Amino acid sequence: MMTQTLTELLDSRVRAALNAAGCDGAPAVVQPSGRPEYGDYQANGVMGAAKARKMNPRQLATDVVAKLDLVGIASKVEIAGPGFINITLDDAFLAQQLQAAASDERLGVPLATAQRVVVDYSSPNLAKEMHVGHLRSTIIGDALARVLRFLGHEVIAQNHVGDWGTQFGMLTAYLIEAEQGGEATVALADLEDFYRRAKTRFDEDEAFATRAREYVVKLQGGDAEVNTLWKKFLDVSLHHCEAVYAKLGVGLTREDVRGESAYNDDLAVVVADLRAKGLAVDDNDAVVVYVDGFVNREGEPLGYIVQKKDGGFLYATTDLAAVRYRVSELNVSRVLYVVDARQSGHFQQMFAVSRKAGYAPEGVQLEHVGFGVMLGEDNKPFKTRSGGTVKLADLLSEAVERAFALVSEKNPDLPEAARREIADAVGVGAVKYADLSKNRNSDYVFSWDTMLAFEGNTAPYLMYAYTRAAGVGRKAESWDAAATIVLAEPAEHQLAIALARFADALQSVARDTMPHFLCGYLYELATQYMRFYEACPVLKSEGEVRASRLRLCELTAHTLQTGLGLLGIKTLEHM
Ligand code: ARG
Repeated sequence: MMTQTLTELLDSRVRAALNAAGCDGAPAVVQPSGRPEYGDYQANGVMGAAKARKMNPRQLATDVVAKLDLVGIASKVEIAGPGFINITLDDAFLAQQLQAAASDERLGVPLATAQRVVVDYSSPNLAKEMHVGHLRSTIIGDALARVLRFLGHEVIAQNHVGDWGTQFGMLTAYLIEAEQGGEATVALADLEDFYRRAKTRFDEDEAFATRAREYVVKLQGGDAEVNTLWKKFLDVSLHHCEAVYAKLGVGLTREDVRGESAYNDDLAVVVADLRAKGLAVDDNDAVVVYVDGFVNREGEPLGYIVQKKDGGFLYATTDLAAVRYRVSELNVSRVLYVVDARQSGHFQQMFAVSRKAGYAPEGVQLEHVGFGVMLGEDNKPFKTRSGGTVKLADLLSEAVERAFALVSEKNPDLPEAARREIADAVGVGAVKYADLSKNRNSDYVFSWDTMLAFEGNTAPYLMYAYTRAAGVGRKAESWDAAATIVLAEPAEHQLAIALARFADALQSVARDTMPHFLCGYLYELATQYMRFYEACPVLKSEGEVRASRLRLCELTAHTLQTGLGLLGIKTLEHM
């Protein structure tokens, strides 16, 4: 089993050479070169090391190269520009790497030093149905959880659902009415509708509004009857979420649900603790924590409110209780919050307060994995034609229908059941991939035509690349599955480099919580595969060359399948 990725290996060798050349501890900065004429990898650390030590960079580069031990790894090492070191990997070495990957379940990806990680994702508000706003959190979180697990980390998914607050008084009050009218089941079939009707009652009927408020008090006071109703409502709402998760192929279960209400008993304790530590102070009857460095637009200190005037607790208080629980009870050393970028202020303050209060010691990584909004093709927030919010369930049904039409057009002769199966995978895969392939920090335009295209950086293109690569082996019928991989052609070399980079791609996704790195990697791999397939005959070649190329096809297929699987996207044997 491999213990280092390719970058780590090159990095350690270049660092050793830098040390030997008198630059102790200088970073090597090894990256894929991106262009064949610059070799396969480039070490860019020499310039920085030379600058810091007032050395001549070209001279230092020459010294480093003289000391650089890449015997059996590189076929060529060259100095370029002001001191770049261009490294071309040796074909025999690459072939050996691929050989090892091909005969390994994990494709040669080394296990990371295991961490226990909470991924807080999806986390919808249960008062309403999941809408497109929850799509990004759900699929980005799911992809990150899968990648972390694959690398050997222990992931604890936390679905921090919104299941508490005054809305639930209104909803339970309305649920009682609906039950008395014998229409609860029908009314709950559409939660958006249910919410709207409850809200109308609340706004228009004073007696109902009063009852709703009483229910909030009863709910908070632990009244058995109101609690039963509330739980019933939550159960229905979670069923709606689970239907969406099932469609999306997202693995969240009831076990992962730990909603806001789970922290109720802790909220007063947290506030008392913050007071005892001298962090929380009274401010205009509210309880507020001030942390250095946070100011409002006027430059005045910006407080973090943990208890309102009326004694009520807030979203913020709940998150403090949650981080305390995650660190002290779940014992995790990293917490990822996959939540809309607009909550960035909340998280920065929450993290700062958690550090000060000791809820999350410095050794625990707290990261807000933010994301931008999904826009319609008009560049405005994604809405239905009538301006309403788009339900996730409807969006996914539309994706599958559109994919079905497309598949039927391309393959009219396939039986309907087969076309349906393809459409399910392509439709859902396209929606997910369109989202995951963008840098999550930016807003992105949701476009059916772009995401369903069979060309470009899309799910259909990659799924199809898989089907093709896997198909070569099927067509070959019999061949030596343990054949030696031999790389001779430039296209083989480029494909091999792409294949050998898989572990590095996954590590960067895990480190920077950026799923689009994996998408970019898979797209590059598929592109190199297509070039290889054009340039190098596989089935028509003979003997060892044929066997070797078949292994390359197979390894490509397996890597694409594994990579897409880590994004939560299914592959098909026929498309
Ligand atoms: N329910 C919240 C919302 O829909 C997201 C919760 C995210 N997680 C957290 N720990 N705050 O905006």
